[in-house]
Amino acid sequence: MTDLIPPHGGRLVERQVLGAEREVLLHEARHLPSLTLDEWELSDIELLASGALSPLEGFLGEADYDSVVDRMRLVDGTVWPIPITLSLTEEEADLWKAGQDLALKAPGGEWVAVLHQPQLYPYNPLVEAKLVYGTTDVSHPGVARLKAQGPYYVGGKVSVLQVVQHEDFLPYRLTPAQTRQEFTRRGWRQVVGFQTRNPIHRAHEYLLRCALEISDGLLIHPLVGKTKGDDIPADVRMRCYEALIEGYLPRDRVVLAANPASMRYAGPREAVFHAVIRQNYGCSHFIVGRDHAGVGKFYGPFDAQRIFQQFSREELGLTPLCFDNAFFCQVCQGMATVKTCPHPVSERVSLSGTAVREMLAQGKAPPPEFTRPEIADVLKETYASCP
Ligand code: ADX
Repeated sequence: MTDLIPPHGGRLVERQVLGAEREVLLHEARHLPSLTLDEWELSDIELLASGALSPLEGFLGEADYDSVVDRMRLVDGTVWPIPITLSLTEEEADLWKAGQDLALKAPGGEWVAVLHQPQLYPYNPLVEAKLVYGTTDVSHPGVARLKAQGPYYVGGKVSVLQVVQHEDFLPYRLTPAQTRQEFTRRGWRQVVGFQTRNPIHRAHEYLLRCALEISDGLLIHPLVGKTKGDDIPADVRMRCYEALIEGYLPRDRVVLAANPASMRYAGPREAVFHAVIRQNYGCSHFIVGRDHAGVGKFYGPFDAQRIFQQFSREELGLTPLCFDNAFFCQVCQGMATVKTCPHPVSERVSLSGTAVREMLAQGKAPPPEFTRPEIADVLKETYASCP
């Protein structure tokens, strides 16, 4: 019996199949029409396999898709903010006959899953873009993906035969069952989840410290799936998280693990999605700071916090921990937000991502008020090795 928060929807739904069942499905897969998945879809399969997307059993069918896009809920009312979909081109749809299962393959040809009793349906990418991403502007990476993909979705339950065999971050690739087991072993009940896709800077650290003050422990859960080209690569970021934990955080109160999801940059809706996933990993609380999962100027800085007001406590088991913009104040001589610091904006040390990249490109370290020196070293090293 565990004291941890239950998974979203009540139980972990792990779609990985093993043993004899897997052998039978592998044999069947060889005789089915097949579809080759891209990196994003493969990461969705990995999340479905491990139970990170509980209670989903596969890619959304039409009724659930419409309901998720329109009202952020599955047809049965369960909160679900982002459509998990598999798209098909006209040609792919032509190869498939109604009633046939579909075999899903990795680009290398490995069988990864069987999609059972697929339901093929057309969708409107403009409606999805507007409602999910809040924009139809193709400079938004999520909208660009929608525009580039095929005109049909295919929904249905999946049985996962094999997830991608990763070679990186192996000690950190924990499934929801494994993080839950680790939290239980440590005797934690209140666990705060932290999503990130950036090198960790002092503002992040401030949120983490605040969270540690009021919880049993912390899951630092960086996203290591597909991100847009100009984001800092996951291996560099991972070294930054390690350096922070090593130098500045109590090791026994922090678990570092990798989240294999792809980044959607859907701002508010993705904040809820990130929260639901972390509940499945065993987190009772989830940090939502300034412009969570945002990109460019598509979302207001606190839209991703406001969206949580649309869900009742019963609907969303997990509690969001919302933070104002954090900064270093030269008068306070410490990290703060407007909630704790009375000094004028001019006293704040704040740097844009572009300014930091420019400093690093010139071999300069960002100031310690912005980034810990150990982390600046990792970043400087990376930039120095770039041609
Ligand atoms: S995100 O796309 O994963 O949200 P990032 O890694 O930058 O991007 O942020 C991780 C978390 O820290 C998010 O909840 C974000 O809102 C929060 N955050 C980042 N910078 C700040 C800041 N200066 N003040 C408050 N919250 C912040």
